[in-house]
Amino acid sequence: MADGSIEIEVDLPDGGVLAGIAEVVREGLSSPFKELPPKYFYDERGSELFERITEQPEYYPTRCEREILQSRASDIVAAAPRTLIELGSGAATKSRVLLDAMRDAGTLERFVPVDISEGITRRVASELTDEYPGIAVEGIICDYETHLERIPRPEGALIAFLGGTIGNFRPAPRRSFLARIATLMYPGDRFLLGTDLVKDRARLEAAYDDAAGVTAEFNKNVLNVLNRELDADFDPDAFEHVAFWDEDNEWIDIRLRARAEQFVDIRALDMRTHFARNEEMRTEISTKFTRDRIESSYADAGLELTDWWTDDEGLYALSLARAV
Ligand code: TRP
Repeated sequence: MADGSIEIEVDLPDGGVLAGIAEVVREGLSSPFKELPPKYFYDERGSELFERITEQPEYYPTRCEREILQSRASDIVAAAPRTLIELGSGAATKSRVLLDAMRDAGTLERFVPVDISEGITRRVASELTDEYPGIAVEGIICDYETHLERIPRPEGALIAFLGGTIGNFRPAPRRSFLARIATLMYPGDRFLLGTDLVKDRARLEAAYDDAAGVTAEFNKNVLNVLNRELDADFDPDAFEHVAFWDEDNEWIDIRLRARAEQFVDIRALDMRTHFARNEEMRTEISTKFTRDRIESSYADAGLELTDWWTDDEGLYALSLARAV
């Protein structure tokens, strides 16, 4: 087989992940209902804490997704994709399951990991060229939400978006994201999407408030990021982790609640913000889906559901779609 090749393209604005943090934080804290942008959760400590969340007994999505990937990999690649494009590839743990299936089917040519983290993507690229002789790895370091149209899109691709991350989009950006995916796809391409499903409140809420307190720590860590990056003086212990199922919106609403009235200085923004006692600030939403809702979201976006798989308990789904 031909030698593998590695190409890495870095397409980040100055400041990387943190570009624009001042403006979005200012806007989020100036609104009567305060909101912090979720993308700042994942600094080094945040990424470690998230890894630990995925190992908590209450946090089922990661295990369910792995179960479906492992049991359905050969069905997932049945359209014979030659390229795997993964949005948010991280350490490529899930990608390997799909790459194995493509290799076994004899169709594997190329992997396009798309991720915001340059270090991890470079490491993954060199590991994979060893593990899959002959593979071409074309890593793209960018924010896939803004840079979707700049990602290479060879014909015969499987575009994977896993981890239930689509659930963290607000409804309008979610609709436009899916529509943009659809316009990128050739007729033989497939889109593979991981989505957590609507289920009973207790189970959902426990997944976002584990007994060991890891999710609470992860949520509060976003305040440490603001302290460091914007010279703010948030006291993480002055806030309480809140996660509740919002039945009307079908999402888990994740917030930080001020335990007492307080003022916080955000020196880099020349801003002082006030929290009333028990005031809540949203840090994330995590939308849960039903099969009907996914099918209709696909239809609105110009996509058509071709396959649907869940884990044994029916908690989580992987679906495959093609452009119409
Ligand atoms: N994509 C993950 C999810 O929605 C992210 C996540 C898990 C998360 N637990 C969290 C985000 C707690 C913020 C707070 O399941």
